[in-house]
Amino acid sequence: MDRPFLVGKKIYLRPFDMSDLNGKYIQWINDCDVTKFMDDPFPKTRENLEEYVKNISKDPNYVFFAVIEKKTDKHIGNAKIGPINWIHRRTGFGRMLCKEAWGKGYGTEAMRLMIEYAFEKLNLNRIIDHGVVDNLPSIKSNEKAGLDNEGIIREYVYSNGKYCDVAILGLTRARYDKKKRQGFFK
Ligand SMILES: CC(C)(COP(=O)(O)OP(=O)(O)OC[C@H]1O[C@@H](n2cnc3c(N)ncnc32)[C@H](O)[C@@H]1OP(=O)(O)O)[C@@H](O)C(=O)NCCC(=O)NCCS
Repeated sequence: MDRPFLVGKKIYLRPFDMSDLNGKYIQWINDCDVTKFMDDPFPKTRENLEEYVKNISKDPNYVFFAVIEKKTDKHIGNAKIGPINWIHRRTGFGRMLCKEAWGKGYGTEAMRLMIEYAFEKLNLNRIIDHGVVDNLPSIKSNEKAGLDNEGIIREYVYSNGKYCDVAILGLTRARYDKKKRQGFFK
């Protein structure tokens, strides 16, 4: 493993390098199958990605990771914690894996690692993520990672030609501690 920062069973998260832009990231981010439920519908150039990575890497309200498959040591996606609100001690999340990596439990593991890091290291009090209700892999993997279903916001995003409801999934420190006592988290 190369600079493993958060280590799971099948994947690990490490700092994102500018050299990761030489790989397939530019393909994934321009693949509509990958991005169809994500917020930003615009095509991305290499320069756009360089600027995005530079900005997010120096922003104290984000923690940005490359997701690496353990068995191949290949970069298979990215994950981020943020934006973090340090006053209210809460954060959102983001994950994007290449299509070849879907459905293998990697997204669940990445989320689980970030949840534990957010509570155990960053001392946050509340995490929240939202997913278009049609994005079942996102919602199911969040639930499997330990987030609670906290409700629905009606017609919150415009996605694939229609206004879509969004599921709110989150976890408070109290719920995290309870699940930890029950052995769900380490
Ligand atoms: C969302 C994402 C990170 C999930 O990662 P993943 O590694 O594919 O997810 P996992 O394999 O850990 O879990 C997915 C779960 O959804 C289930 N699932 C997948 N497609 C499904 C479908 N059409 N119907 C019902 N369940 C489905 C899987 O079966 C699995 O549950 P299971 O283990 O109980 O069977 C990944 O699919 C991705 O990067 N998608 C594109 C980007 C994206 O949408 N990001 C989220 C934006 S909010």
